[in-house]
Order: sequence, then structure tokens, then C-alpha cells
Amino acid sequence: MVHRTQSKVVVVGIGNVGATLAYTLAIKGGIQELVLIDINEQKARGDMLDINHGLPLLHPIQIKVGDYSDCKDADIIVLTAGANQKPGETRIDLLNKNASIFKTMIHEITKHTTTAILLVATNPVDVLTYYTWKESGYPKEKVIGSGTVLDSARFRYLLSQKLDVDPRSVHAHIIGEHGDSELAVWSLANVGGVTLEHWTQQILTAEEKQDIYEKTRDAAYEIIQAKGATYYAIAVALDRIVRAILGNENAVLSVSSYIEDYYDVEDVFMGIPSIINRDGVKQVISLPLNEEEQKAFQASAKKIKDINRQLP
Ligand code: LAC
Repeated sequence: MVHRTQSKVVVVGIGNVGATLAYTLAIKGGIQELVLIDINEQKARGDMLDINHGLPLLHPIQIKVGDYSDCKDADIIVLTAGANQKPGETRIDLLNKNASIFKTMIHEITKHTTTAILLVATNPVDVLTYYTWKESGYPKEKVIGSGTVLDSARFRYLLSQKLDVDPRSVHAHIIGEHGDSELAVWSLANVGGVTLEHWTQQILTAEEKQDIYEKTRDAAYEIIQAKGATYYAIAVALDRIVRAILGNENAVLSVSSYIEDYYDVEDVFMGIPSIINRDGVKQVISLPLNEEEQKAFQASAKKIKDINRQLP
């Protein structure tokens, strides 16, 4: 990453997620340059104009529609291009189409920069993050997937509603695949530092926990069925990761990181709490998982690795 006070973010793919991320980055401020890249330039231009017209009421930011040459001195390149799930589709169903889009995208990006951090959002995100790492030749620390940051936020929100506490005071991780094999780390979930087993105000039954887990895991299906796509919360999750990088925060976020040796899991990108700063993934955090959680994590890793083998 180019260390300077002026920060530059490039978003490739200005569909629902990319456009909502651009809007989120603009309204929250603190980023000096934002470049929108999309094969549909007209669409990207429309979003650029639509956001720019609000700037007199927001914060200074230069937003433009660009091309891959604008990746040259980008701090972060967010990859949101590709097809998204249709009702009834799984994220894995998107693999072949999105992998071919990624091959072209990564080839173009790496012509112009080897210093940016690549932040992958397109699904299946864990597989495409691995593919991005392989195809780009970037160090693993500089290739990050949105992982289970969104899933953990959903989990925390649903727990907060059940326990009647501020979602920001609930700390809990969903780890593994951003998808159907993800798992809830119940053993470490806590409210203000008090684990759920000691949260005597309300002890959750096994049925209540299973219901919260399933609502978390299946949230995207429910939203896609209702409105065709998800984009608000994923954009906020991506914005959070962008700011952890630009702010050199050393923030803990369950991004899709490269797993080297984790309960016998290796050579896969999956959602795991990691320390994030301006150099990307500083460290993957070793969670004290119980036996049930270890098994579910290993099963999730096996699913992703089996799919990674299908990559072109
Ligand atoms: C979701 C998409 C981003 O979970 O996979 O909403």
C-alpha cells in the first residue's frame, strides 16, 4: 500500500453492491479519491453523478468513472463485479461465471499495480479470494475476502434482538465459509464480555440458538426472495474493512483470510477473525474452538477446498 494521507479506493463492478459501497464510502467520508469501474460505463456514470450531486451536503471526495489504469496508485481495489444469486441459487452456483470474470479482471489489475490491497466481495467469496490470490501472485496478506464479516454482523444483530441489548455490545463470530457451511462460535459469544452461559438475564435454549444460527446462515436467501438482492449490509461490511485498512486500525474482523495451519486446516481462504491494518491481514487469530466447533470448521474448509479444485 502506498503510505500517504490521500487515500484512493477503486471499486470494480458497480452493480447493487458496488454502487451501495461507493455511496457508503462517500457519505461516511475520509476517503479522498474513489474510482468506479464497470463494463457498463453508462451505469457507473449515472451512479457517479447521483452521488456527486449530494457532495455539497457531505464531505470532500473526488469520484470518477475510470478504467483499469486508475488502479495504478490505488490503496485498495474492491472486487464486486460478477453475477449475484437469484432466488433459489446458492453462492457456489455462481462459480464458473464469476471465475471467468475474475480471470480477466485480475489480469487487467495486475498490469497496473502490485501494491494495492485486493478486497474480494463477489461470491462465492472464499473461493474467488483464493483464486484472486493465485491469479494475482500477490502476497496472501494483501488479498482479503469479505468473508463472514457480514454473517457475524447478522449473528450479533439477531442475538441483540433476542437478548434486548445494543447490537454493538454483542461480540460473536460466524466463521468458515460465507455460505451454507458457516458455523457460529457459541462458546465465545458474549455480551459486554459476559459469555452467554453466564448471561443469567436470559439463558438461550438449544432451539433458540439453532433458530438464530439458521436465520443468520439463511439471511441472504430470505432477503433475495424478498427484494432480489442484498447490498446494504454487505456494503457496510466492506466499508468497515476498507476503513480498518486505510486507518491502519489493527481491527479484528472475520474476513476471508489465508489459513495456514488451523485445527489441521491449511491452504484455504475462509472467514476467521483476523487483525487488519494498512498492510492487509496482520495476523489470523487462533480461536479456542470447542470440539464441535473444530469439526464444523474442518467440514467447512473441506467444502471450500473441494470447490477450489474446480477453479480454472
Ligand atoms: C449476502 C451476500 C453478500 O450474504 O453473500 O448477503
